Amino acid sequence: MATIKVRKDGPYLVTGGAEITDAEGNPIEAKNNDNFALCRCGKSQNKPFCDGAHSVTGFTDGK
Ligand code: FES
Repeated sequence: MATIKVRKDGPYLVTGGAEITDAEGNPIEAKNNDNFALCRCGKSQNKPFCDGAHSVTGFTDGK
């Protein structure tokens, strides 16, 4: 079963595997489909994956 952990001021960490598709349903391959991080800040240059940009842009989740 996939687990999604919301990191404070960071991405969604997906563990346990999940299929990723674009808006048209085309598959998107992660480097590791079992464990990956999805961008939550909107600043990644590699969407939908986190590239660490959240840490340099000062993204906060407001909590
Ligand atoms: S959450 Fe990491 S780059 Fe957006």
